[in-house]
Amino acid sequence: MKLLIIGTGLMGTSFKTLYPEATILGEQDLDITQPERFPAVIDPIAPDMIINCAAYTHVDKAETEPDKTNLINGTAVGYLAAYAASRDIILVHFSTDYIFDGQGSQPYVEDDVPSPINAYGYSKWLGEVALAKHGKNTYMFRIQWIYGKNGGNFVEAIRKKARETGHLDVVNDQWGSPTWSLDLAQKIGYFLQLSATKTTERPPFGIYHVAATGQTNWHDFAREILAQTGIGASLSAISSEAMPRPAKRPTNGRLNCAKFAQYAALPMPWQDGLRHYLRSLAQDSQEA
Ligand SMILES: NC(=O)c1ccc[n+]([C@@H]2O[C@H](COP(=O)([O-])OP(=O)(O)OC[C@H]3O[C@@H](n4cnc5c(N)ncnc54)[C@H](OP(=O)(O)O)[C@@H]3O)[C@@H](O)[C@H]2O)c1
Repeated sequence: MKLLIIGTGLMGTSFKTLYPEATILGEQDLDITQPERFPAVIDPIAPDMIINCAAYTHVDKAETEPDKTNLINGTAVGYLAAYAASRDIILVHFSTDYIFDGQGSQPYVEDDVPSPINAYGYSKWLGEVALAKHGKNTYMFRIQWIYGKNGGNFVEAIRKKARETGHLDVVNDQWGSPTWSLDLAQKIGYFLQLSATKTTERPPFGIYHVAATGQTNWHDFAREILAQTGIGASLSAISSEAMPRPAKRPTNGRLNCAKFAQYAALPMPWQDGLRHYLRSLAQDSQEA
């Protein structure tokens, strides 16, 4: 299968690590808001599958840049979907638990009704609608709380602040599953390989939730980071109300991943994912 990855951030580089033979395009090669460029740039590559990892992901900044956010995360997804449909290319896209309002008491299933509470979530929901409208053979994975190399990273932010200040205040009322990007890419990669088969094992096109096994809140995730890295900093649990940010966050972001699990293993328990990620960093610094 000939693979094209669009976007050179956290998930794009994770897929490229797994599939070194794949073509990867950054924004300077292909701006997804410019559909008139798609034939000239993508036709020569002739991919069987496009994995779209390009997005506007600055959750707080999105509140003051809604037009740009909606263009990249909403309208441009429709452009890509229409292009892929016109060439019979499978399109893989990512959305988020932020399309939900987080008020539910159970982990969200794929059919739950979106009701975003911030500008980023709204833009990602627009992308979901555009994908459904213009796409043909599409897989959309709703993912969450990703960390890894080459992207914004809660783990690194906690380590840095703990070392610099020796104290952390972290919210304990937002719930989800911290997921290591490389493990997520591996599990989705296996799932997508099944899609290349024409057997009954082939997962139907559509929406899938996928996140690390187990759930936690940001405070307990921070505590685990300190424990696994051995950084001696104090840690206090605070409420989201006590730490207002420009964009509201869903309280319950938990995703029910049972549908995905019918076809492929879920990412490992979140504590193990963290351990593997930290080990991979240690290996990198030994090799450097
Ligand atoms: N990270 C998470 O926790 C998380 C959670 C839920 C869902 N997701 C979704 O997962 C997908 C991958 O996210 P990620 O974490 O890998 O994001 P990321 O690290 O921010 O990478 C996104 C990439 O898209 C690029 N980009 C922005 N505008 C573009 C444009 N117009 N054309 C082409 N490329 C453009 C960015 O370039 P610049 O940096 O130069 O702008 C960046 O390299 C996204 O759809 C995101 O919404 C992520």
